[in-house]
Amino acid sequence: MDAKATLKVGLLGLGTVGIGIAKILLDTQGRHPLLNSLEISQVGVRSHKPRAIDLPETIYTTDLKSIVTDPNIDIVIEVIGGLEPARSLILEAIDHGKHIVTANKAVISRYGEEIYEAATAAGVYVLIEAAVGGGIPVIAPLKQALSVNRIQAVMGIINGTTNYILTRMQTEGGDFEPILTDAQQLGYAEADPTADVDGLDAADKIAILAALAFGGRINRDDVYCEGIRNISAADITYAKNLGFVIKLLAIAKLPNAPAYKAQTSNRIQVRVHPTLVPTSHPLASINGVNNAVLVEGEPIGQVTFSGPGAGEGPTASAVVADLLSIAASLSTGQNPDPLLTCMHDHGLSIVPNSEVVTRLYVRLLVKDTSGVIGKLGTCFGKHDVSLESIVQIGTLKDLVELVVVTHEVPEGAFQNALADIRQFPEVVDVPSLLHVL
Ligand code: HSE
Repeated sequence: MDAKATLKVGLLGLGTVGIGIAKILLDTQGRHPLLNSLEISQVGVRSHKPRAIDLPETIYTTDLKSIVTDPNIDIVIEVIGGLEPARSLILEAIDHGKHIVTANKAVISRYGEEIYEAATAAGVYVLIEAAVGGGIPVIAPLKQALSVNRIQAVMGIINGTTNYILTRMQTEGGDFEPILTDAQQLGYAEADPTADVDGLDAADKIAILAALAFGGRINRDDVYCEGIRNISAADITYAKNLGFVIKLLAIAKLPNAPAYKAQTSNRIQVRVHPTLVPTSHPLASINGVNNAVLVEGEPIGQVTFSGPGAGEGPTASAVVADLLSIAASLSTGQNPDPLLTCMHDHGLSIVPNSEVVTRLYVRLLVKDTSGVIGKLGTCFGKHDVSLESIVQIGTLKDLVELVVVTHEVPEGAFQNALADIRQFPEVVDVPSLLHVL
């Protein structure tokens, strides 16, 4: 990698984020001077049409392949999103010796191994700050400022759409469907909200964070993923009365290790699910579209990063910061910089849910007969499930609603107890089962 006075950048995609990137690169006054060494050389677009940015017409091409194979281009930014053609274009660009900056969490979480192996062979960088948490610096801190720590856990609220919906459900007392519809009309949720509300976007992002934090490869398909469609206004209210807020948490942590113990196996927990978070916890107060990531390690303890997890400016800020890192590294002529590269040489296996030790919240609708609470307690006890609280919430004719919160228990033991409980003649329904942090 030679030091060059000007680095030519090929931009794949000129949507919201692409425009934000171009705006920063065209207006460098007051920003880092090294930005002046970066020049947008070509922009790959789907079709020619008027744009909300003033770039020369000759810069545009609909032939994206011509950008990734252009010998004059040093760095390719991929912000088209989706799996294909993004993956193939990234690989072809690497094959042609270009450094990559991408915001594409779907591609990196699924094809990271293939891409990083190709990048290592080609001697180029692949930087992905914008893929997780939008404008919040979290990838670079994990690779650099926090890299001397033994990481115990990385967890966070890493999907803004679901956090917006849950925050509104919390503040307005509304149910999921009408708030989703309103969020779509206001532009806070996509017309097809599946990737966000079913937790898939957050699962992509936590797979990336887990791989970095624990230094190994993650199979994205093994990440347990549960979205927020089944969260009801009732559960939000009950959780609130018990001192919790419900958040969609993405969690990667060592399996049940005592705090700050070094990782001794290649097994970790990686999961996404709605979670009752104590109101005193740092993630409980992250509201609206904001994201936050909490990293726990030794010796640092806990550190939380929070801020805007999406949008033109924040995401462009992260992409251009990666560009700048590459420019800085290339300007020294000493490459590859080990703090920018990503080296995973072993796989990490994900602990099955049945072995995860966690607190759980379950809401039960039962017949209002004598002895039912005792029967439930006995059954949980028989399965070694220790209870923290059991509360009778309300009555409905001859039925009562009970909310049970457990201590930390193996999830498999809890599921076995619940399977027995579902067979009790007094148990009419089990409307919800949620994790508790
Ligand atoms: N759709 C994502 C979110 C933003 O709602 O947070 C892009 O990752």
